[in-house]
Amino acid sequence: MDRLELVGSGRDADVFSLGADRVLRRYRQGGDATREAEIMAFVAGHGYPVPAVYDVDGADLVMERVDGPTMLVALSEGTLGIADAARTLAQLQDRLHKLPGRAGAASADRVIHLDFHPENVMIGSRGPMVIDWRNATDGAADLDVALSAVIIAQVAVDDRDGRAALALALLADFLEHTEGDPLRLLDQAVARRRANRTMTPTELDLLVPAEAIIRKLA
Ligand SMILES: Nc1ncnc2c1ncn2[C@@H]1O[C@H](COP(=O)(O)OP(=O)(O)O)[C@@H](O)[C@H]1O
Ligand SMILES: [Mg+2]
Repeated sequence: MDRLELVGSGRDADVFSLGADRVLRRYRQGGDATREAEIMAFVAGHGYPVPAVYDVDGADLVMERVDGPTMLVALSEGTLGIADAARTLAQLQDRLHKLPGRAGAASADRVIHLDFHPENVMIGSRGPMVIDWRNATDGAADLDVALSAVIIAQVAVDDRDGRAALALALLADFLEHTEGDPLRLLDQAVARRRANRTMTPTELDLLVPAEAIIRKLA
């Protein structure tokens, strides 16, 4: 096979071009993308904006290519304003939480993404699309909301990060727009973030002020 062209990468995966319409997402440490592909197919079936999944094989997932930047890139480049980004983020997440749960009406569980932040939303030509469903599961919508707040707040309280001011403004607007309760399961969200194996020691230290700023703003 020819060398693949890298179109993006995050903490877990590398994403390669398979032509104009498709990408291959490959976990660097191995793993199984079957479950997230199932969740993506489920939400897509309910009209939720996710890339179509074409194939899954172990750590490899072939999906529709989104022709646009991530929300973070659009924000950094100034093509998307902070208030618009925050509203879009909150509305997209609320919309996910309004889909029927996978366990049926008897359960209060909803599909939750658990990594819902501006690097995992892409601004495609047909509108925003949510990517990176690795952590997605069935659970309480407020946990998803609190985790988004924690992830954004970690950047907002990091003085060494040039994006701190942007993240703080985004956090304030996100908290204003979300229909969920960011405080109800905040403890659980912080604990989950603390247990995340991709956190650096500095990021772990930032969890304490991050939680404090959410409690102050919410
Ligand atoms: N469907 C897609 N179309 C185009 N680019 C994508 C797509 N999915 C992911 N990417 C690019 O790859 C990057 C990493 O993908 P992501 O699924 O978020 O992996 P990670 O789990 O490593 O964060 C994204 O930020 C984006 O730039
Ligand atoms: Mg990602």
